Amino acid sequence: MIQISPSILAADFSQLGQQCKMVLDAGADMLHIDVMDGHFVPNISLGVPVLESLHKALPQAFYDVHLMISHPLSYIQPFVDAGADLITFHLECDSPVQQTIDAIRKAGCKVAISIKPNTPAEDVLPWLEQLDMVLVMSVEPGFGGQAFMESALDKIACIRKHAQEKGLDHLMIQVDGGINPTTAAACVKAGADVLVAGSAVFRSADSKQAVANLRGQEG
Ligand code: DX5
Ligand code: ZN
Repeated sequence: MIQISPSILAADFSQLGQQCKMVLDAGADMLHIDVMDGHFVPNISLGVPVLESLHKALPQAFYDVHLMISHPLSYIQPFVDAGADLITFHLECDSPVQQTIDAIRKAGCKVAISIKPNTPAEDVLPWLEQLDMVLVMSVEPGFGGQAFMESALDKIACIRKHAQEKGLDHLMIQVDGGINPTTAAACVKAGADVLVAGSAVFRSADSKQAVANLRGQEG
């Protein structure tokens, strides 16, 4: 089952609640919350108060929080309290990886590690048993609307192969950046099952059609 996680970075922030409701009604499985600190990535986006408000307005939604921040360990509890269901942090961050995994689990959240385009897939393999999901970045994190990097496909395939060899059938592989119906199909073929899409969903005139197209279905 392919899941679609629209990235709210591409939403109109003046109408955020309404737009999130719209994409959920259109069939999206979760909401992807891109948190940037202007340090780990060269951009600042949004943080805990935005998640908190969204969660109050749309309590049933599943919140997929992507932390592009240097010190995720210091912010786990506030994001969990605000409503995060799954927290992704970067293998390249400055927090200790094991402690960060443990803190997310202890807070009762699902846990994922993300790797940037220049980080080899092999680097995340030692952590697979402890994870619910791996996020393979298919653009340099920091901005929406960038072109998909084909190098993500081999990395997805490598992680899927190792997960299968280890019997980790539950491991989700998410891909983020430049996802449209064409790149989505390639990612699914490689072994991805959670597709993040900002522009392709929020900038579309028909979000139901957009979500269906990403799943490889007619609208
Ligand atoms: C990039 C973010 C992505 C981004 C995706 O740093 O992690 O989630 O919003 O946007 P699109 O789908 O427009 O490439
Ligand atoms: Zn993201």
